Amino acid sequence: MARPPSPGLRDLTGVVVKTENINHAFLDGVISGEHDDVYYHYGVSSSDAVMEQMRDVRAVIMAGSGERMDEFAQRWSILNGGTEIIRFPKEDRFVTRYTAGVLFASHGMGMPSASIAVQEAMRMVYFLKRGDLTAMDEVFWARVGTSGGVGLPGGTVVLTSEGLMADLKPYRLMRGDRGTYWFDGTYPAATRAAIIAANAGAGLSIVEGKTIATNEFFIEQFRLDGAICLETPETKRELLDWLHDNGVANIEMEGALIAAYLNHWGFPSFAMICAVLLNRLEGDQVTSTHDQLHRFSENSGDVLFNYLRVLAPPREA
Ligand code: URA
Repeated sequence: MARPPSPGLRDLTGVVVKTENINHAFLDGVISGEHDDVYYHYGVSSSDAVMEQMRDVRAVIMAGSGERMDEFAQRWSILNGGTEIIRFPKEDRFVTRYTAGVLFASHGMGMPSASIAVQEAMRMVYFLKRGDLTAMDEVFWARVGTSGGVGLPGGTVVLTSEGLMADLKPYRLMRGDRGTYWFDGTYPAATRAAIIAANAGAGLSIVEGKTIATNEFFIEQFRLDGAICLETPETKRELLDWLHDNGVANIEMEGALIAAYLNHWGFPSFAMICAVLLNRLEGDQVTSTHDQLHRFSENSGDVLFNYLRVLAPPREA
């Protein structure tokens, strides 16, 4: 099957979100009130009262860790003068908070988990914005995460230009006819430029580059320290050098999927902001101290918050 067209180009009405790729057959009945949408993994549904409190959602921020989403929501609430933090009731899968126009939702580890979090969040945003494509265009999405650097030291923050899988090809899934659904892994350049501008003078080391999302932390990241090791030091080095030569800056486990789905609907504004925990050209194990790891991870949070402050200027306390 041919590769899909590139992400939404602005049409004559100025709208980017691609209505033809939205599942109107199911989602429009939710907006008209014919039926509910149950966001099962978040533990809420479209008819819950909490939905009315989230109509102004301006950004959806995701990360692997639920604890991190809780911390981010508290930080954003404080910046906004102590706004109420709404907590979704179910926390056994994803931890979700909403405050001051921002939805913070964890997505767990890996693309199967993230695919559920992202699809349910997209459905929620469609409902919250009543299917208004212009309003949906204004929603900013980000994954803030951790990664292994390819030639980059711990603490560097990578803004992803393209999210690919380990073979340097975009995210894809099997089709019903046993062909392949190909998706687009491009991250919008304008959003990256705006994030870099918002962080000018912050003293953070930010680089742009391709990111590989793997299906596995050990084997597909070519580690030699897994319970199962299928590479030699030579093949590992060859693979990492190949990634490096092809402009790959870091390796993690969700970014190809996130770009794929957001591009499929044509959201114009999204980013992946990942802190590097270690330089994979130098090792496999994450050996930094707890404090160092915390600091590395804080860097990506700082990059996000510097941008959020520009995007949705807080009413500081
Ligand atoms: N996350 C990953 O997926 N890989 C790393 O090496 C570090 C964090």
